[in-house]
Amino acid sequence: MDTENRYLKMLENEMHSAVCATTDEENKPVTRVIDIMLSDEKTFYFLTAKGKDFYKQLMQRKYIALTGMTGGEGLDRTEASLHIRAVSIRGSVACIGTEKLAEIFAANPYMAEIYPSGKSREALAVFKMTEGRGEFFDLSTNPITRESFAIGDAEQHAEDGTRAPYRITETCTGCGTCLTVCPQNCIRHDAVPFRIDQRHCLHCGNCYTDCPVRAVVRR
Ligand SMILES: Cc1cc2nc3c(=O)[nH]c(=O)nc-3n(C[C@H](O)[C@H](O)[C@H](O)COP(=O)(O)O)c2cc1C
Repeated sequence: MDTENRYLKMLENEMHSAVCATTDEENKPVTRVIDIMLSDEKTFYFLTAKGKDFYKQLMQRKYIALTGMTGGEGLDRTEASLHIRAVSIRGSVACIGTEKLAEIFAANPYMAEIYPSGKSREALAVFKMTEGRGEFFDLSTNPITRESFAIGDAEQHAEDGTRAPYRITETCTGCGTCLTVCPQNCIRHDAVPFRIDQRHCLHCGNCYTDCPVRAVVRR
């Protein structure tokens, strides 16, 4: 299973509910919980009712950002942190009407309790993401793990397919200062210039701030 599909499936099956952001008519952010009803190799599907502000915002902007998370509820992270993982995606969405509606109801039996009759289901509209970028973030590994992926024609992020705000350039002298300030020990120092292992980088910026020769650049 490729990366993209793995994270879409994780969103659909493990998280299922996600906090989804749009903007209102004053361009201010609005969030609500939605369910990720289905996913396939290329995208994921969700629905809403045509009477909702959410629907209006979707039709106006055709753009969302969402995050699904599993584990980590509450303050006590000692045990719970073993399973904290999040998938975040933002991108363009399109309304596909009632396409996939029957499949959604078959895969999500609880929906029949919320919208019991065929008539009541006429309010529903299905959406899918047409193009977007996502990131998987796993706090349960040490060091942390992050990986980015794309939906549709959206460009993959640079470097190892991960979102890479910091990069070490040829100016690196190998002095080792960055090694002492990286909280995740994710700087590879077997050769000069040193290299950031992007899959484990927190993006804290310590290497950028502390490098004495300014060899770390910010995207
Ligand atoms: C667990 C959960 C799942 C939900 N799933 C959806 C959903 O898939 N689609 C939806 O429109 N609203 C869903 N809701 C309701 C919204 O979160 C929200 O309260 C409501 O849609 C507000 O709509 P508005 O943004 O138009 O004001 C869900 C709520 C909860 C708590």
